[in-house]
Amino acid sequence: MAKNNSERPYKVFKIEKGTVIDHIPAPKGLLVLEILGKENDGIVSIGLNFDSNKVGKKDLIKFENKIIDKEETDKIALVAPEATINIIENGEVTEKRSIDVPQRIHGFLKCMNPNCIVNVENLESKFKVIDENPVKLRCDYCERVWEVKYDMIEKNRKSEI
Ligand code: CTP
Ligand code: ZN
Repeated sequence: MAKNNSERPYKVFKIEKGTVIDHIPAPKGLLVLEILGKENDGIVSIGLNFDSNKVGKKDLIKFENKIIDKEETDKIALVAPEATINIIENGEVTEKRSIDVPQRIHGFLKCMNPNCIVNVENLESKFKVIDENPVKLRCDYCERVWEVKYDMIEKNRKSEI
């Protein structure tokens, strides 16, 4: 019989340098990965559904070699404000970074209203964060309000097929 999760050693191995995004409430890990992109100069390891005292079940992502910047950190808050960001150097946690919900998001998310002028005229999207838990965003153009879903994330990264 499988051991209880809490008895298992962590199966996602430690990294020497990079970023660990911990305490992502399950099942949002893959959505966080979609937000950050999969491109990386090193291993990206993902653990889903660990037991966690803090958030029930948690997901975890480790980017080897990559130190995420403040802008990327804050984008995580759009879907998982509870997540904790650990910066790892020389095999040790050197920084526990706080994440702040950004006030505005420009050009990263798509407005899901097909008739919105931003889509019709192919403009840069602009949203204002109007609610933080869960995050709700209002489109500057059509004023419709959205929660961040997969479909809203722009698929314009090189790594996407
Ligand atoms: N970690 C890692 N590689 C390292 C050091 C730490 O992948 N060389 C990971 C740990 O597995 C953990 C996270 O980074 O998922 C945070 O590490 P640490 O602060 O040591 O753990 P906790 O004290 O449990 O963290 P928290 O304060 O978030 O509960
Ligand atoms: Zn719109």
